[in-house]
Amino acid sequence: MLLAGKKILIGITGSIAAYKSILLLRLLVKEGAEVKIVMTAAAKDFVSPLVLSVLSKNKVVLDWQEQNEWNNHVALGRWADLMVMAPLSCNTLAKMATGACDNVLMAVYLSATCPVLASPAMDEDMWHHPAVQENIEKIKTFGNHVIPVNTGALASGLYGEGRMAEPEEIRDYLVEQFFRTQDFAGKKVMISAGPTYEPVDPIRFIGNRSSGKMGFALAKAFFLKGAEVVLVTGPNNLPPLYKGIHIIQVQTAKQMLDACIKQSDAGIIVMSAAVADYTSAAPATQKIKKAGDQLQITLQKTEDVLLYLGQHKKAGQFIAGFALETENEETNAIEKLHKKNLDCVFLNSLNEKGAGFDTDTNKVTIIDHQQKQTLALSSKLDIAFQLVEYIREKVIE
Ligand code: CTP
Repeated sequence: MLLAGKKILIGITGSIAAYKSILLLRLLVKEGAEVKIVMTAAAKDFVSPLVLSVLSKNKVVLDWQEQNEWNNHVALGRWADLMVMAPLSCNTLAKMATGACDNVLMAVYLSATCPVLASPAMDEDMWHHPAVQENIEKIKTFGNHVIPVNTGALASGLYGEGRMAEPEEIRDYLVEQFFRTQDFAGKKVMISAGPTYEPVDPIRFIGNRSSGKMGFALAKAFFLKGAEVVLVTGPNNLPPLYKGIHIIQVQTAKQMLDACIKQSDAGIIVMSAAVADYTSAAPATQKIKKAGDQLQITLQKTEDVLLYLGQHKKAGQFIAGFALETENEETNAIEKLHKKNLDCVFLNSLNEKGAGFDTDTNKVTIIDHQQKQTLALSSKLDIAFQLVEYIREKVIE
């Protein structure tokens, strides 16, 4: 859970995009955050306080006082680790720019001692009005963060700029901007992920079943622990990661080798890519036409990227590889550890249920020169955090 123990306050204002605040709330709770809600009177027309109260398991603050009891806006402003104004309407934006305080949401905002993130939602013409743009710039000068609006279908029926960012984008933005830890601060980590595609002709390729999920999860985990992350990845359909992760897209084993060598100044390297061991010796320049009952393609060995990196290991560098095995798992993994001059091998067995290619879970055994440790079957992100913690203990402690 990326937000365990974090306290987040969502300020909701009057905009049709307020329905997305329910989804945002759920996403933040799912990541372990405690969420409280404060909303304007206009926001109540778009989203029910009852729904928000049930989902947040907290009382929703709607007014200065309720049943003769004062809502302590100062305490609420000081309670939060982060306040998120989502959606931020044109009207509340103007109030934030001027410091107006005519409702409890503004009182909480003005009392907040934590960072404030705003996710504006407006129709395109309003969004482009110079007064709005000036207010956006002005609230930034107060130290507020503003998530860019999206382009798409608007409440007016028009298509254009001004849509509130999607809840997933807001979650990712706030995790990336406010809740990364410093464990790997100043450390560059290179990770490889995915399959490679080796061309046979302009239409076909030889590939494999790797989804890239484990490598992407590792990139995410290292990034959230403060590392500078370079992810060299083969083709995949995975959703984009945090903007701060440097992604290098490659297709072939040769391109992966070149990209990895270029980035090999990284202090930590984890090769999780399923690099093709063989490539077509002479890919056809034109489409191979159907003829005869059999077709022979001559394959040529590719260079082993990890072996190369291990042989050229720099002083103090930590190199980890994966081993995907179907038989003699441990013996083969230990052989790779020595042959490729690695610090450790993360062994996946295709015989384990829930482990390996294209699953969302994995089962990994960490093998290094001192010990062997099997992690319980878990989500790939969870496994990634455990592997990152293992590497932190080896490299940083
Ligand atoms: N690897 C690599 N370059 C290759 C082949 C593999 O960098 N051309 C890396 C993988 O990223 C992985 C490790 O080497 O970290 C082991 O890969 P694996 O496919 O399990 O084994 P191979 O070394 O290719 O040997 P084999 O296919 O015979 O098991």
